[in-house]
Amino acid sequence: MNRILLIFISLAVLSCAQKESIPIQIYESNIIPQPVSYEITQDNFVVSKNIRLDIQTDDAQVQTFVSSFTKFLSDAGITTDAASGNIMSVSLNENPKESLGAEGYDLDIKGQSITLSANKPAGIFNGLQTLFQFFPSDFKFDGAKKMALKGAKISDYPRFAWRGLMLDVSRHFFSVEDVKSYIDKMSKYKLNTFHWHLTDDQGWRIEIKSLPKLTEIGAWRVERHGRFGSSRPHPKPGEKATYGGFYTHEQIKDVVQYAADRNITIVPEIDMPGHMMAALAAYPEMSVKKEKKFVAPGSKFSEWYGNGRFKMLIENTLNPTDENVYEFIDKIFTEVAELFPGDYIHMGGDEAYHGYWDADPKVRSFMKKNGIKDSHELQSYFVQRVEKIISSKGKKTIGWDEILEGGLADGAAVMSWRGMKGGIEAAKLGHNVVMSPTTFAYLDYTQGDHSVENKIYADLSLEKTYSFEPIPEDIDAKYILGGQGNLWSEVIPNLQYAYYMTYPRAFAISETFWSPKESKNWESFIDRTEAHFTRFDAQNSNISKAVLDPIVRTYTTEDGKMMCKLDNNATDTEIYYTIDNTYPAKYGIKYTEPFEVPKGSLSLHTQTFRNGKAIGRQLKIKREDLIKRVERKERVLIAED
Ligand code: ACM
Repeated sequence: MNRILLIFISLAVLSCAQKESIPIQIYESNIIPQPVSYEITQDNFVVSKNIRLDIQTDDAQVQTFVSSFTKFLSDAGITTDAASGNIMSVSLNENPKESLGAEGYDLDIKGQSITLSANKPAGIFNGLQTLFQFFPSDFKFDGAKKMALKGAKISDYPRFAWRGLMLDVSRHFFSVEDVKSYIDKMSKYKLNTFHWHLTDDQGWRIEIKSLPKLTEIGAWRVERHGRFGSSRPHPKPGEKATYGGFYTHEQIKDVVQYAADRNITIVPEIDMPGHMMAALAAYPEMSVKKEKKFVAPGSKFSEWYGNGRFKMLIENTLNPTDENVYEFIDKIFTEVAELFPGDYIHMGGDEAYHGYWDADPKVRSFMKKNGIKDSHELQSYFVQRVEKIISSKGKKTIGWDEILEGGLADGAAVMSWRGMKGGIEAAKLGHNVVMSPTTFAYLDYTQGDHSVENKIYADLSLEKTYSFEPIPEDIDAKYILGGQGNLWSEVIPNLQYAYYMTYPRAFAISETFWSPKESKNWESFIDRTEAHFTRFDAQNSNISKAVLDPIVRTYTTEDGKMMCKLDNNATDTEIYYTIDNTYPAKYGIKYTEPFEVPKGSLSLHTQTFRNGKAIGRQLKIKREDLIKRVERKERVLIAED
């Protein structure tokens, strides 16, 4: 095991000052994402109550980054002192070291010195995140103890420039403080792009001063509880809209600066032409039918038929044939572009329902007049108009992969979500791509056993996310900017649950987009992930430990028996179970091989242990639910195993 190792070497290292033996605690880091080159040495850095800082650059960003580190030190009881024998030096390379690029760094931890160098401030930031991970989560300097950081020599840089997370703040509103906390945490794992999904049917969250009703009306909906998208009723006539919120320009500028101080660029998303019900509640004249609408409270207004086919029962699309709509969009992007300094603006483009366009005689005659063959081409016409608006503000456009339909606008980048195929198609056309396919990167999907998790549209285990390889074969890798995990918030009402759904899968996203493909290793990753559970616990931040739970599969034999197979992702574990309605599993049978599930009204109880201590949740699964899991015949299972 390689989790945070507390090595007590009694009678080993003698302090020079006190000629008595004091045990030394050597903290070994468990770095996520795995560095490119990481050599552990025996020359440990012995921590003392002060440290001399030698910042060899005036760069303001470097000063900001280093000051967060010195704050961490002083909170832990270590002060900066020019007379200290311990030194930490930070410098920007005068002659850039090519391999490090813009975000890489060299970090040397040894004896009495920590040396960090990089080509650019971003590299210093990333090096500091690695250094933080050398300290244990509950680190406090204690003069009565000898403490040391493991000696190490690291040279590190990212595989991709775009390493992101998306947070949907429309389906549930997250306060400025929540958003900052979310950004702060992702920055610790060298994720550098925060995709802020600011608008959707359920709430418009960004102040647009020239269109005040967008937030006066669009940011608020009636309060509803219960399952999102099915059982919640629509608003009643005259009912007050009390749930919601939005970010003012001042708040956004504050968040943008907060993110920049953590090497994070924000990509704002204004989702159009679909997902616009909140905007249309404020400005119904921007739709085809111009009917009065409401901000959706999570009530049902669409039907889904599989294979991406759907129908919107209430119109939630802009009218792409109306010039007023483009003026409206221009006003929005004028303000968005002023607020966000990053290169890209995300224009959404996903799941736009064309039914109201197809049914409208005026829209049809516009299409005929302009030689637009079908509604896909009409969507493409819309995307091209919007791309021009965005580029007129000095920004680049990115959109979900539906923007490929009917012809992709010049210069637009594609965020591939319906698998990788949109990304492949866009890259073949010479467009930039960000990979965030549902199959690997949808963080709202259920990550653990259904008996103990909230169910949503689909499942996505940590192991599957970790297996993500973002560069498909036969693609010129230069078009793949990178990728991200997406956290849609239909069933995520607060920050702690957002953390629970994001982590540890965001560790897998971080490692996929930072570390070299060849260095990815599931066993090492899972051990390091467990070490970071402790960090989250120490910060009172929720993190899913579903990966410690047993994995329960069932199958039938040729002679019709239902068998149960238990598995586990963590290392050095034992699984115990009972299949006779007794509990806890701890006093049951130690799992060694698949067993038959007897007939009758009974439940399986099972849990994972390490050294006799429970480390996962106890699962209780009724026989009828075990039957639903029967997937394959025994022979097939064995052949696949
Ligand atoms: C999406 O998940 N609709 C982009």
